[in-house]
Amino acid sequence: MYKILTLNNISAAGLDRLPRESYEVASEIAHPDAILLRSYKMHDMDIPETVQAIGRAGAGVNNIPVDQMTEKGIPVFNAPGANSNAVKELVIAGMLMAARNIGPAWKFATSLEGEDAEITRAVESGKKNFVGFELPGRTLGVVGLGAIGVRICNAAHDLGMNVVGYDPSITVKSAWKLKADVEQALSVDDLLSRSDFVTFHVPLNEHTANMINEERIKLMPDNAVVLNFARNGIVDDEAVVKALDDGKLYAYVCDFPSNLLKDHPRCLTLPHLGASTREAEENCAIMVADEIRAWLEDGNIVNS
Ligand code: MLT
Repeated sequence: MYKILTLNNISAAGLDRLPRESYEVASEIAHPDAILLRSYKMHDMDIPETVQAIGRAGAGVNNIPVDQMTEKGIPVFNAPGANSNAVKELVIAGMLMAARNIGPAWKFATSLEGEDAEITRAVESGKKNFVGFELPGRTLGVVGLGAIGVRICNAAHDLGMNVVGYDPSITVKSAWKLKADVEQALSVDDLLSRSDFVTFHVPLNEHTANMINEERIKLMPDNAVVLNFARNGIVDDEAVVKALDDGKLYAYVCDFPSNLLKDHPRCLTLPHLGASTREAEENCAIMVADEIRAWLEDGNIVNS
């Protein structure tokens, strides 16, 4: 019997891939053979000696001490691409929300009090503050041309946007499943100088931390929009807030709330919802459960 320790809720669709007759799965279990998790931060955890594999039902693995596991020969599996449609949809929604001032407009609409006639009058005079702009003809810069970045390029192109892409390790020409006509940027700076919107789809590491900072914001066209649905720390939030206050940037859409951002009228923050759809949770759980099973039962490595 294989024992699987779950550190977060894992979609039943994934757990169903581990047959009951040979797998015991629980959130508390002695001597586990493998660990399944989503966002639980494992860095300070005492990892049981019996663990032979770790599976993250998501793409990023920065909540797992991967180097330490690799030294011990323990593979860390993840689910690349399994939630990429969910993230793409929210990034597109984020662009539309920023362009149409949905955050401040929603706050305005829900703050109105009084009789319906009074509300109607307030709407008539207040709505002029929320006039937005449309996406066709605007340029979206996509940093990171993996499964998520490529889907966003394709969708933005379908919405009539110009798309410019940059990835430190692949070119636009070699990006997998990229159907849209995407211009190749030569560097992050080059991409920023052309982007009315910029979105990041890279892991957080020493090369990507504060990838967008005060100096780089200056390269962007006026009234640009910054989106961060990747990892907290890729965008220097303080620099972005300053640029919003100076009128340089139009809006910041960030999937990581913080005290700095929460009351800013031009910041739209979300509680890391990019991958939070039923479909994505199921896809990730299925992929990672299959990977764990292939490793435990046959010693096969898929996607680690
Ligand atoms: C991922 O790494 O898959 C996404 O950021 C979503 C998540 O953290 O679960």
